[in-house]
Order: sequence, then structure tokens, then C-alpha cells
Amino acid sequence: MKIYAVKDYDAMSKKAAEILAAKLILKPNAVLGLATGSTPVGTYKNLIDMNSKGLIDFSQVKSVNLDEYVGLTGDHDQSYRYFMNTNLFDHVNIDKANTNVPSGIAADTAAECARYDKVIADMGGVDIQVLGIGNNGHIGFNEPDSVFTRGTHIVELTQGTRDANARFFASIDDVPTKAITMGVANIMFADTILLLASGEAKAQAVYDTVMGSITPNVPASILQLHKNVIIVADEAALKLIPASMKN
Ligand code: F6R
Repeated sequence: MKIYAVKDYDAMSKKAAEILAAKLILKPNAVLGLATGSTPVGTYKNLIDMNSKGLIDFSQVKSVNLDEYVGLTGDHDQSYRYFMNTNLFDHVNIDKANTNVPSGIAADTAAECARYDKVIADMGGVDIQVLGIGNNGHIGFNEPDSVFTRGTHIVELTQGTRDANARFFASIDDVPTKAITMGVANIMFADTILLLASGEAKAQAVYDTVMGSITPNVPASILQLHKNVIIVADEAALKLIPASMKN
């Protein structure tokens, strides 16, 4: 794991965007694995800025998102499809037909999970996967469990995750109880993982991810087994990590 320690959220966002931009310059038809939540918003703002200046081009890019809330349609303002459109896709020259978010409203969830696994496989896998991290060490809504999950599947969100995300909804009762996620295996198959973390609330999860045992109780800890993980995190999120491990 390569850990880039930066001062704050803005510096994290700039560094993460530079890493993604470097990938797009080297491979204009890259497959981007994308995340939602508060963490990558600044990264996406930087990418929009670079795209508007002609520094990066999304015309050949394909994307695949980690997850979606079960029960929300793509035009619901808290759905992750809506999030991606408003925070990135509407503002760059990506072809929306090349962007993928699992459906949260599929009647046949097993078929939707199988379809999404095939979408990822047909793209030839993800070149670089952006990840945020939950306070409990979840990645892509793969919550602490007794096993590492394989492909796309439905997850029951923990009360802690629902509480953390209640800030976006009118009330806790409106926060969905389930999500559809691409699963830990699809994340692990990405060529490069770019894990972002900001703020003290993430410090323990980052410590457990980097320094702890590899356990499905801390889903992100499996990233210790991935050959190419880049962590970009600010001082607060890295406060428990020894200085010798930070770049
Ligand atoms: C989002 C996702 C989640 C978030 C995590 C952190 O697509 O899969 O795992 O990355 O819940 O969320 P924030 O960034 O809001 O702290």
C-alpha cells in the first residue's frame, strides 16, 4: 500500500484527481470505478475543472459505480445515479451510455446482480477503482460480516451506516435499509485501488485497514492483499498511522 498523507480535504481531492487524470492521460479509454458519498465530491470537482480546461478527456471513458440504494429510482435526489449525474457526469464530456450504476429498483434482484457482474466483466475489468471508507471499515457498502462477499449482491445497511448517511435525508426513516453493491471480489479485481479518507471519524477504520488483521469484520482490510493500493488521506484520517508508513 502506498499512503499519501496530505494536509486536508482539499489537498486530498486535488491529489486524487491528479492520480485519476494521470490514468486518463495514459489510457484515454480507461474503465473508472467510481464511488459516491461526501469523500469524492471534491475529487470530482477537480476532474470537472481539468476537463473544462481541456486537460483531460472523458469521451472514451467507461465507468462503473460501486453501489446504489435499494428502493430509490435514478431520479431520486438521494440515489447514487442522481449523485453521479449531478456531481460529475453532467459536467464532463462523458457519454452517459458508458456510465453504469446498479439499479436499486429491479424487480428481480438476482438478475440485476448477475447483469451488473457481467457489465463489469464485459468491460474487461476496472482500471482504477475509487473508494471511500465507512467509519466501520466498509467499502462499497460491503458491511462488516463473517465472510468476504463475492460478486454483486444485496446488503443490509448497518444502523451506524444509516445514521451516518441520515444527514442527506429528511429523516432517518427515509434512509434505505438495503443497498446493491458490486461486492468485495469485484473491487479486488480492479487493477488499481484509490482509497480516499478525510477526517478524524475515519482514523480508526484507516488504522484497522492498514495495520489490523485481514478480517471480513473490517472489509477494507482485505486491501492489504491487493498489489496496487494507493491511499490518499488527510492528517486527521491518518493520525493513528506511524509516520514511517506515510509518503
Ligand atoms: C459510496 C460507498 C460507501 C462510502 C462510505 C463513506 O459509494 O460505497 O462505502 O464510500 O460510506 O462515505 P462518505 O464518503 O460519505 O464518508
